[in-house]
Amino acid sequence: MTYKLVATMASGFEAITAKELNSLGYNTQTENGRVLFNGDQKDIAKTNLWLRSADRIKIIISKFEVRSFEDLFDKIYDISWDDYLPLNAHFPVNARSIKSKLFSTRDIQSITKKAIVNKISDVYRRNGNLPESGSSFPIEVRISKDIAEVTIDTTGDSLFKRGYRIDHGGAPLKENFAASLIMLTNWNSNMPFCDPTTGSGTIAIEAAMIGKNIAPGLKRHFIFEGFDWFDSSLLENEKNEAKNAIKDVDLNIFASDIDQNMIDIAKLNANKAGVLHDITFKQIALKDLKIEERNGVLISNPPYGKRMKESDEVHTLYKQMGETFENLHDWSKYYLTSDLSFEKHYGTKATKRRKLYNGAIRTDYFQYWK
Ligand SMILES: C[S@@+](CC[C@H](N)C(=O)[O-])C[C@H]1O[C@@H](n2cnc3c(N)ncnc32)[C@H](O)[C@@H]1O
Repeated sequence: MTYKLVATMASGFEAITAKELNSLGYNTQTENGRVLFNGDQKDIAKTNLWLRSADRIKIIISKFEVRSFEDLFDKIYDISWDDYLPLNAHFPVNARSIKSKLFSTRDIQSITKKAIVNKISDVYRRNGNLPESGSSFPIEVRISKDIAEVTIDTTGDSLFKRGYRIDHGGAPLKENFAASLIMLTNWNSNMPFCDPTTGSGTIAIEAAMIGKNIAPGLKRHFIFEGFDWFDSSLLENEKNEAKNAIKDVDLNIFASDIDQNMIDIAKLNANKAGVLHDITFKQIALKDLKIEERNGVLISNPPYGKRMKESDEVHTLYKQMGETFENLHDWSKYYLTSDLSFEKHYGTKATKRRKLYNGAIRTDYFQYWK
C-alpha cells in the first residue's frame, strides 16, 4: 500500500530535507516546514532511519474541507480507522488550527477523539469503552485555511534524538539542526572540518556520521515498530543494509572547546555514536588554535551571551574568531549565533546570512565562503 507521507522539520531546512529525500529516490513537494512524498511501509522505515534533518514522518490518512464541528465529526468518523488502529490502540489526538473557521483546538481535539472512539466502538462492536492499553498511534488534526489534514505519526520521539547523547552539558544544538547546518555547507568527507566551540560535540559528531554514511536512526526506536500491521522485518532489513553501507574512511575532523568538561562529554557522546576515533578532540581556547590544513570547512556555534556582562565576553570572543580564522582564506567558515551584531565584532561582513530558528531563538547563520 502506498501512503501519502509528510516529513516535518524546522522552518528554513525544507530544502535540505527535500534534497535528502530526493537522494533517497523520492519525488517531493515542499511546503512551509514540511516536505510531502509517497511511500509504502518500507519507505516509512527507510526515511525514519535515514533523514538527518527532519523531525518526524507522518502518514496523511485523510484531507478534507471543513467549516463546522458537525462536519468535522462526520468526516473523521468516515475514515476507515480500523485499517490503522487495533481495538486496544492508545491514540492521543493533537489539534492545530491556522487561519480557519474552526479555531478552538480544544474542541477540534475532543470532537476528533469522540468521532474516532465512536467509529472504533461501532466497528469492533463495543459500547464506547475502549481500553487504550496497546501501542500508541499519535494522531494529529491540522486545519489550515479550512482544509483539515489527519495524520498518524510514525516516528515517536523526534528524529533529533539519535540515541547517542549521554549528557546534556551546556546548551547543545539539536542533532538534526546540527546536521542541517553541515548540509548547508559544501563540506564532504575528503575535506578537513573544524568546530572550535564544540561543546557536547554535536556538530562534529554529525559531521563524522555524514562522512561515514552512518544512518542517524540506527541506534533508536520508532513508534511504528508498535503498529500491529507494520511488517517488522522491513526495519530490520533497512538497518542491516544501513550497517553495510557504513564507509570505512579516514576523516579529518577537529573539535575543540575551552572547557575540558565539555570535551569529556563530547567524547562520551562520540563514543556512543561510534565516531570517537574519527574526531580529534582537544581542550584549547579558540584564540590559541593554529590550523595548518587547507580547503576546509569550519562551523562554530559560539556562546550567544544574553546578559550584559556575558555579551562583552562574547563580543571579545567574536573578535578573536575574526583574528584567528579570517586569514584562513581557503576555508569556508560558518557561525551560528543569535547575536545579530556578530559581523561588527568579527571584523568582516558575511558572504551570506541565513535566518534560522534554534527552537524559539532567532539565530543567524553567518557564512563566509572561500
Ligand atoms: C553554545 S555552546 C556550543 C554547543 C554545541 N554546538 C553543542 O551542540 O553542544 C558554546 C561553547 O563554546 C565554548 N567556548 C566559550 N568560549 C570559548 C573560547 N574562548 N574558546 C573555545 N571555546 C569556547 C563553551 O565552553 C561552550 O561549550
